[in-house]
Amino acid sequence: MDAQEAQRIKTLLDTRQPNHGLPRPFYHDELLYLAEMEAIWRQGWLFAGHSCQVPNPGDYFLYNVEGDSVIIVRGDDGEIHALFNVCRHRGSVICQEQEGSVKRFICPYHQWTYDRRGNLLLQRGMQEDLDKTQLGLHRAHAREVEGMIFISLAEMPVDFDPIEKAITPVARPQGLARGRVAKIMDFDVASNWKLVWENNRECYHCNVNHPHYIKANFDHYNADDAIPRVVERLKSVTTRLEFKLAAQGKSLRDETGMTEFPDPDHGIWYAANRTPLVEGYVSESMDGQQVAPLMGDYTDPEVGTLRIRALPNFWIHASCDHSVAVRLTPHGLSHTDIRMIWLVDGKAVEGRDYDLEKLLPFWLLTAEQDWKICTNQQAGVSSHAYTPGPLSTYKEYNLDRFIRWYLQEMRVFVEQ
Ligand code: FES
Ligand SMILES: [Fe+2]
Repeated sequence: MDAQEAQRIKTLLDTRQPNHGLPRPFYHDELLYLAEMEAIWRQGWLFAGHSCQVPNPGDYFLYNVEGDSVIIVRGDDGEIHALFNVCRHRGSVICQEQEGSVKRFICPYHQWTYDRRGNLLLQRGMQEDLDKTQLGLHRAHAREVEGMIFISLAEMPVDFDPIEKAITPVARPQGLARGRVAKIMDFDVASNWKLVWENNRECYHCNVNHPHYIKANFDHYNADDAIPRVVERLKSVTTRLEFKLAAQGKSLRDETGMTEFPDPDHGIWYAANRTPLVEGYVSESMDGQQVAPLMGDYTDPEVGTLRIRALPNFWIHASCDHSVAVRLTPHGLSHTDIRMIWLVDGKAVEGRDYDLEKLLPFWLLTAEQDWKICTNQQAGVSSHAYTPGPLSTYKEYNLDRFIRWYLQEMRVFVEQ
């Protein structure tokens, strides 16, 4: 990006009025989109998938991020590796299947062959003095935390240790690393990636758009509508649950409203917490009842719900019996590829211990309602008549936090 382009973006970033949405160009400007890819998507840590998707050495899946295809593979050392899916000879992609299991990676073009860590093993027909050690597949950074795989395409990514420290104690009892995939679903949502996050960061829309979600949760109540009866209910549910959880070394968050996230003032892009479900709900299922065996270390279904989020592309909701991860990947200005991954306990057997008809609907319905909302909003912000309106300080404080985080990341990038 040249100085003139950086200046144009800087000027654009300054057009956002405090406590308002983002102006139209934020969803339409190609140059801004390219800058976002550099400033945010190729800098930060991206959730790629769960380690239980690749249980054995050689198991892999691809994660494609705007032109970069990355092979997430379990190596012979048992570690997860992230290798760029680009041959070191003349650049062909190597893996063409989205997932599979390999002994070696063999390029389809001239059959250069790499081991499961990306080291070059064979290159027929080439001169003898070639230094193979210099021709391994390019690597991306990969970290696994409690069964969640994060990668970074940056040369020098931001420190991962703080997120690992924050997530580990809260996520550990869920046993995601010992889970199994019950279902993976992919969606192409006709919406800019920021709109998907903006929608995720408020529950102002929940009462009307997610009638089943609000039956299970308290977090759609805010300071303006948490009437004393609701506060009392939350308090009593929390006290009961806290008592149980304390005995298991887990803690709970007991305020009305959504957890405040992100924290742009302190550069916090990740969060993990547990919140209570309403009385009678032990799982985020349609009737609140357990829909699969208990996961991980749980011995009692009453553990509330575990929520983890990491910008720019990940959140997960987990009940005592299943988890649902959501992975976002921008695909042009007005499309986002969204993958949802349902996990159950590793020992659970479909048909015997769980049925997809009971497991999927709660979050699938919620997701489809949200994707529709985002598509509607993308269509609206495309209009020349669109101007950002004011945000509710009661209900959209997290949306404001997201926008401020975004603007800050972008400013750091264009000012360097
Ligand atoms: S491009 Fe891969 S072997 Fe030639
Ligand atoms: Fe929603």
